[in-house]
Amino acid sequence: MALVTGGSVAGPGAVEAARWWMRMMRDPLATYGALGRRYGDTVRVPFGVGRALYVLSRPEHAEHVLVANQDNYVKAFTYRPLRAVIGEGLLTSEGDTWRRHRRVVGPVFAQRHVVGFAPQIVETAVAAVERWPDGVMLDAAGELRRLTLDVVGRALFGSELAGEAGRTGRSLETLQRGAVIGTFLPGATAKRGLYQRVPGLGGAIGQLDGLVQRVIRGSSGGELLNLLREGGEFSDAELRDEVLTLLLAGHETTAASLAWTFVLLSRYPAARERLEGEVDEVLGGRDPRADDVDRLPWTRAVLSEAMRIYPPAWTIERDAVDGDDIAGVRVPAGSTIAVPPYLLHRNTDIWPNPEGFQPERFMGEQQRHRYAYLPFGGGRRICVGAGFAMLEAILVLATVSRTHRLDLAPGVPVRGRAEITLRPAGPVPMRVSRR
Ligand code: HEM
Repeated sequence: MALVTGGSVAGPGAVEAARWWMRMMRDPLATYGALGRRYGDTVRVPFGVGRALYVLSRPEHAEHVLVANQDNYVKAFTYRPLRAVIGEGLLTSEGDTWRRHRRVVGPVFAQRHVVGFAPQIVETAVAAVERWPDGVMLDAAGELRRLTLDVVGRALFGSELAGEAGRTGRSLETLQRGAVIGTFLPGATAKRGLYQRVPGLGGAIGQLDGLVQRVIRGSSGGELLNLLREGGEFSDAELRDEVLTLLLAGHETTAASLAWTFVLLSRYPAARERLEGEVDEVLGGRDPRADDVDRLPWTRAVLSEAMRIYPPAWTIERDAVDGDDIAGVRVPAGSTIAVPPYLLHRNTDIWPNPEGFQPERFMGEQQRHRYAYLPFGGGRRICVGAGFAMLEAILVLATVSRTHRLDLAPGVPVRGRAEITLRPAGPVPMRVSRR
């Protein structure tokens, strides 16, 4: 089969590309991986009339698109289904709307402020762990989702949401599947009303809307909600979009990264023993606090390495406004550019033995290119909740590991499912035991 080049970029020709797109709809993660293995770290996949997707997986590409020339890029058409459902919140808006939202939301997530959430995070984690009966098999993914939704609910919105986790999880599964299919609908048809009419999806959207309404009406305050309200800058619709955005973006990814972390720790006992040793030594039998976090370098490294192998935001995609030269790759205006953390984090020039779980990679001085590791993205659209997410994940991991151990059910494979986020597909049966 001939390789067709657009400029100097390798990739399939139009006919072959149609097959790749079909595969992409079924299993985007495996298809991105296969594209990388087949064509390398710079791939062009044509679609439509004269357009193409460029899948670029070198740090220089990510730096150029997300930082150096970020003014030339907007969120890709692939975000359209998400925008149709969650509206114009921080994650999906552009231009002035985005700037205004970021100005209001940003300060809540400033590092010096975020540490104030630590007591609530630890309290929520302790309560969750105390509910786990000793020696019983639990769905770790479900438990962790419940925990992270509870944290976001209490810390940011002053609401009790743990009881909503099961239904919310199912709604998000439905929504994510719908989003992948919706990506390929013509732009004009990808409207909220259409999704609401699709059986299943309509119910999921209704459940999430109900959740947001309960948060907005019923909450006792919660710092973030007060801020969003008080500024007087947001209309009711904008408030709803932002609350939904933060509820979803604020728990789903953290739940996935914790679930992958416990799966990996169960598979790598030496890394887990070192983690337990660090937690025992630093905490000496008490619950963790914000000021312990810097004294738990292995705990942090374990999480960082889990997010390298399984980045919850596995792909980041942009559309080019004007033509550009991305570190030597010429792309015409209107091209879609993917800089997938999933592929960047497996680039063997940077990460030897990329499938191996080696938290040592994140210990001590690191010599890598700054954009070789991008779990939270980069540039001005970098994750607003990154500091909160790391604080939460480290505190939860330390709280759980201080008293408990999670072991994967023998012989049960854990596969990934990548749609909007990369998470374990289905329940993750793990036996919980007291240490
Ligand atoms: C491990 C956990 C998390 C991961 C891996 C993650 C990852 C990311 C990534 C990669 C982006 C950039 C997307 C892009 O450039 O297209 C992003 C944006 C965002 N994240 Fe996170 N995130 C996490 C946790 C959180 C939390 C806890 C919150 C809020 C409480 C949050 C809220 C957001 C928002 C609002 C944006 C959009 C920011 C903007 O465009 O200004 N995320 N996240």
